Amino acid sequence: MLAIEAVNLVKVFGSFKAVDGVTLKVEEGVIFGLLGPNGAGKSTTIRMILGLLKPTSGSIKVFGIDVEDDRSSVLKITGYMPQHFSLYEDLTVEENMRLYASLYGLNGRETEERILELLDEFMLKEFKGRLAGKLSGGMKQRLSLAVALLHRPRLLIVDEPTAGVDPPLRRYFWEKFRELKKRGVTILVTTHYMDEAENCDRIALMSKGKVAAEGSPLEIKRLAYGGDIIEMVVAGNPREVLKETAAKVLDFEENGSYSRVRLLVPDASEYLIPLTRELEAYNVKVVRAYPVSLSLEEAFIRLTTGDGVSS
Ligand SMILES: Nc1ncnc2c1ncn2[C@@H]1O[C@H](COP(=O)(O)OP(=O)(O)OP(=O)(O)O)[C@@H](O)[C@H]1O
Ligand SMILES: [Mg+2]
Repeated sequence: MLAIEAVNLVKVFGSFKAVDGVTLKVEEGVIFGLLGPNGAGKSTTIRMILGLLKPTSGSIKVFGIDVEDDRSSVLKITGYMPQHFSLYEDLTVEENMRLYASLYGLNGRETEERILELLDEFMLKEFKGRLAGKLSGGMKQRLSLAVALLHRPRLLIVDEPTAGVDPPLRRYFWEKFRELKKRGVTILVTTHYMDEAENCDRIALMSKGKVAAEGSPLEIKRLAYGGDIIEMVVAGNPREVLKETAAKVLDFEENGSYSRVRLLVPDASEYLIPLTRELEAYNVKVVRAYPVSLSLEEAFIRLTTGDGVSS
C-alpha cells in the first residue's frame, strides 16, 4: 500500500515554478527523507500533500484517498509538524494540546490520556502551564511534534523537525521516529542533516523543484559517484596491471615501495575479493583492501550542483 502517491505535482507562484513535476511514491511503513537545498521546493511539496496548498496541476493520494476530494479524511490520519512553529503562542502548552485534540476529534478520555502520555514522552510536564510563545526553541519543537502525534496518525509528516535542536534531542527525535516506524507509522521527513538522512529507508533528493535522484542512501551515493569506492594498499607500482581489471582507477599515490589506490567499482562487497585475487594473479601483493564509506553529503552536493558523474 502506498502511504503517499503524488503524481506530477506542479506549483507555480506567479511566474515562478517552485515545484516542477514531482512524483513521489512513499510505501507504507517507511521513513522517507525529502532532501534538497534551500528553496528546492520541499515544504511546498509537503503543503500540497497535506492539502494546505492547491497544486497548479498533478494529483495526490494519501492511503488511496484523493486529497482534493476528501481533505478532512486525510488530515484525520496524518500528523504534521510544520517547518516554522505554528501553534498558538498565547496559549499554554497544555491548552494548545487540548485545542488540537478537539480539532482532531478526540473524546474527553482520549484527550486526557494522550495529553498525559505526550507531556511525559516529550518532557513537557513541568512546562505544561507555560505559554507556547515563551518556550525555548527545543521545547517548541517538542511541543510541535507532540501535537502532531496527538491523534496517533498513520502518516507523520515532519518538516525539518530537528532544525535548531541540540544533539541529544535530535537523537531522541530519531529514536521516536524509529519507534513509530516499528508501530507501522509512515514518516516523511525533511532535513539538512546528512547523518539523519542516512537513517531514512529511502530518500528523494530535490533540486530546483524537481526530484534529482531517488533511492536508498546507498543507491543515492552510487548514483552520485558512479559506483562504490575500494581503497587498496599494494606493493610496488602496479599502475599498468590495474588498468587490466574491471575497476576504474580514481586515485593513485606511490609511497616508497607501496602504493595506495582508490578504485571505482559497481559494488564494493561484490568486487572486493575477486579484485584482490585478480591482482594477486598478476603477482601484485595486496596489503590491505577495504571499501571506503562515501559521504551522503558529498553525494548530495554532486547531485544538486550538477557536479556528478555525468558532468
Ligand atoms: N507562497 C509563496 N509565494 C511565492 N513563492 C513561494 C511561496 N512559497 C514558497 N515559495 C518559493 O518557492 C520556492 C520553494 O520554497 P520551499 O519553501 O518549498 O523550499 P524548501 O525546499 O522547503 O526550502 P528550505 O530548505 O529553505 O525550507 C522558494 O523559492 C520559495 O521562495
Ligand atoms: Mg522548507
